Amino acid sequence: MVDIERLVRDFNPEHGFTEPDSVTERRLHDLSGVFADTAAYEAACLAGNPLVYSVQIFTPGGGEGDLHVGYGTIEPGTVGSEFFMTKGHVHERAEMAEVYIGLRGKGYMLLQDVRDGGNRAVELGEGRIVYVPGHTAHRTVNSGSGRLAYFGIYSAAAGHDYRRIAEDDFDAVVLRGAAGPRLVPRREVRDMKS
Ligand SMILES: [Fe+2]
Repeated sequence: MVDIERLVRDFNPEHGFTEPDSVTERRLHDLSGVFADTAAYEAACLAGNPLVYSVQIFTPGGGEGDLHVGYGTIEPGTVGSEFFMTKGHVHERAEMAEVYIGLRGKGYMLLQDVRDGGNRAVELGEGRIVYVPGHTAHRTVNSGSGRLAYFGIYSAAAGHDYRRIAEDDFDAVVLRGAAGPRLVPRREVRDMKS
């Protein structure tokens, strides 16, 4: 029998795990290429290097059949009109799915099938679960005025591939609009600037 202490972990919906196994922080300067409005991104980088998001991970086991639990938070904010978001990734083992559980705040998940490019956005926030099927790149966006917090539960064997989605980016971006968040094609943001 495995050590029972390894199987339990305390967490708080606002702050995550009491003792995460690892923590990754992404600041604005780490997110080159993520925001469609490159001029706004460069201007924002000159103004500072705020925390954009962080992920704490609980890794009770690393075997083929194990699960990892990530606790993610995205700070409220924008670059130009684009809401703060994660880099996004597809799993190295692309067939492996993931479950996101919204804990706090309001936002979106951008989902893009890496086989045919089909994409959609679904709301993620407190009280909502999103199932991310295999072969689907996923990015999380905070469109609210407070921090967005969520769990992601995925196979320990899934791995994270950031390069694939950086080369063939998500088709949609979420912009702050007067009447609420607006989803627009990425190329439109680029076209607005040229
Ligand atoms: Fe994932």
